[in-house]
Amino acid sequence: MATVIKNEAVSKDFYLLKASGSYDAKIGQFCMLRAWDEYPVLSRPISIFDCDEEGISFLYKVVGQGTELLAQLEPGDSIDVQGPYGNGFPEVNGKIALVGGGIGVAPLFYTAKVLKAQGNPVDLFLGFNDEALLQEDYEKVCDKLTVNIGGYVTDDINPADYEYIMTCGPHIMMKVLNDKVKGTDAQLYVSMENRMGCGVGACLVCSCKTKDGNKKVCKDGPVFKAEEVFTDEQ
Ligand SMILES: Cc1cc2nc3c(=O)[nH]c(=O)nc-3n(C[C@H](O)[C@H](O)[C@H](O)COP(=O)(O)OP(=O)(O)OC[C@H]3O[C@@H](n4cnc5c(N)ncnc54)[C@H](O)[C@@H]3O)c2cc1C
Ligand code: FES
Repeated sequence: MATVIKNEAVSKDFYLLKASGSYDAKIGQFCMLRAWDEYPVLSRPISIFDCDEEGISFLYKVVGQGTELLAQLEPGDSIDVQGPYGNGFPEVNGKIALVGGGIGVAPLFYTAKVLKAQGNPVDLFLGFNDEALLQEDYEKVCDKLTVNIGGYVTDDINPADYEYIMTCGPHIMMKVLNDKVKGTDAQLYVSMENRMGCGVGACLVCSCKTKDGNKKVCKDGPVFKAEEVFTDEQ
């Protein structure tokens, strides 16, 4: 069990929670969170927003019972943090763009922080419906931050400017990006957020169609090369 260090609203329905402990987190991984006894039955998958010597942080949106219970936690309360799980984004060298939409921006903070600390130029493109989240924090971990509110963040990026693009957000946003990347040398990695059951490869709830057959988003992903998951039919 970890202890909640902080759990603060950063905007309406969006919270930033920090839990104590030492975690060996890779960029783009997630944890299964649980702060209740019996119901809901399943823990909830939430991406790693940040990780440091003090603990691990999560940026989450309240959408249902599990996240409502998380939002009620106060400093000193206990929380079960299982993980980190999943493969995460690759640690590449080159010019990198990170593109996030909505709560899909969550895994991109730690990803930008780590990739930039490794000496890579990192540009961040974040799209929101009506209000930017944690803009000043994101600015600190990249070379250039572009925020799009109410429009299409995919309009703001020229994929030909980058060697690697990593993205997380609505399926349609990632698919548009995949179409835009075609014909350039940029390699696109997408983080899928399928609904999950166990989070550790045992239940098949998170199954996702790829060009090499069905894969488990929790164990084989959540990060895939875009060409694996975006075929002409999907
Ligand atoms: C790998 C991974 C990483 C994620 N990272 C984050 C994160 O960093 N921050 C965050 O806020 N959320 C994240 N999610 C989504 C988060 O897990 C769900 O929002 C959460 O489980 C909902 O739980 P609930 O009990 O509050 O709502 P529920 O009552 O379970 O669901 C409420 C509503 O949310 C929808 N929903 C539930 N799960 C998902 C999902 N995976 N994708 C789209 N819609 C969903 C349901 O269809 C329903 O309409 C992630 C999901 C995955 C698989
Ligand atoms: S969530 Fe159970 S196999 Fe992926």
